[in-house]
Amino acid sequence: MGFFDFLTEDIAIDLGTANTLIVHNGKVVVDSPSIVARDRTTGKIIAVGKEAAMMQGKTHENIKTIRPLKDGVIADFDASEKMISMFIKEIPALKKKLFTPSLRMVICIPSGITEVEMRAVKDSAERVNGKEVYLIHEPMAAAIGIGVDIMQPKGNMIVDIGGGTTEIAVIALGGIVCDKSVKIAGDVFTNDIVYYMRTQHNLYVGERTAEKIKIQIGAATEDLEVPPDEMSVQGRDLLTGKPKEVKIGYREIAKALDKSILRVEDAVMETLSQTPPELAADIYNTGIYLAGGGSMLRGLDKRLSQKTDLPVYIAEDPLRAVVRGTGLTLKNLERYKSVLAK
Ligand SMILES: Nc1ncnc2c1ncn2[C@@H]1O[C@H](COP(=O)(O)OP(=O)(O)O)[C@@H](O)[C@H]1O
Ligand SMILES: [Mg+2]
Repeated sequence: MGFFDFLTEDIAIDLGTANTLIVHNGKVVVDSPSIVARDRTTGKIIAVGKEAAMMQGKTHENIKTIRPLKDGVIADFDASEKMISMFIKEIPALKKKLFTPSLRMVICIPSGITEVEMRAVKDSAERVNGKEVYLIHEPMAAAIGIGVDIMQPKGNMIVDIGGGTTEIAVIALGGIVCDKSVKIAGDVFTNDIVYYMRTQHNLYVGERTAEKIKIQIGAATEDLEVPPDEMSVQGRDLLTGKPKEVKIGYREIAKALDKSILRVEDAVMETLSQTPPELAADIYNTGIYLAGGGSMLRGLDKRLSQKTDLPVYIAEDPLRAVVRGTGLTLKNLERYKSVLAK
């Protein structure tokens, strides 16, 4: 403990492609969509997070909304840095401070990002007063957040289905033994629904509406034990140009998503087939853990379980498993130093 430690604050950030979450003092203090809105004429960021998300699909030519981390890579460095800095400034406990505290941070990054991008995230964090900045890979943080004892000589499989990527990893002895990152996740599911509505119902719906459909009645299989009610969907009729409404059932959405879910299944199967036999034996007993918002798609756990013949468990509060794990890593930095991204 140094004399000036009271000027240092610890924060853990889950920099997700869809949502950014921040933990400070063991509590989630920021939980916002990873979106920024920029004024095209001045180049200035006018909104981030929820406020920017409300503008999505409803902008005029002078405002543009950007997802800085689309597809699991940093698509816009400048926007992502501004987004991080604005989220940090929003933390209530830091707002009240007389001095801007220096920060000790653990940031969770998609495991698909390159070394250059990792460097860029670190640099961004340092520019927002990060004095000590550590990075951790998403599946590792998810495993810790789920409560898996990652230091054991025992294999565990984690599948984190986010917005831009699905990250699959087998973890043992505090390290990732084999992993796979595919760009099939929540965003692709949403786009599948946009495409389905257009081709099957001549209805043009925006991404926000498609995401609502996915959350309200989305399914990974046509035989659900507790099926959701039909849903009324409004959009623009492609033939007449007029606003129109149609009723949709979950079976249709299961059809629309089938191909993409098959690809997630294939990626899981492929990772299993690359798993060393002793760890495969462990996974036979421990099963597969799901995290990330995409894991909440109805029937996905069941479908993966049938495909792999393994038990599949969804993390408690799957949208927060990663940030929880990142927060725990920060709290027990000495213990987890070896699991940080190098
Ligand atoms: N109930 C739900 N059913 C299906 N998908 C969902 C549900 N809730 C959220 N999602 C999806 O989860 C994704 C976001 O998950 P998240 O883990 O926050 O992603 P990331 O880590 O990439 O930011 C989005 O694509 C969102 O549409
Ligand atoms: Mg995530």
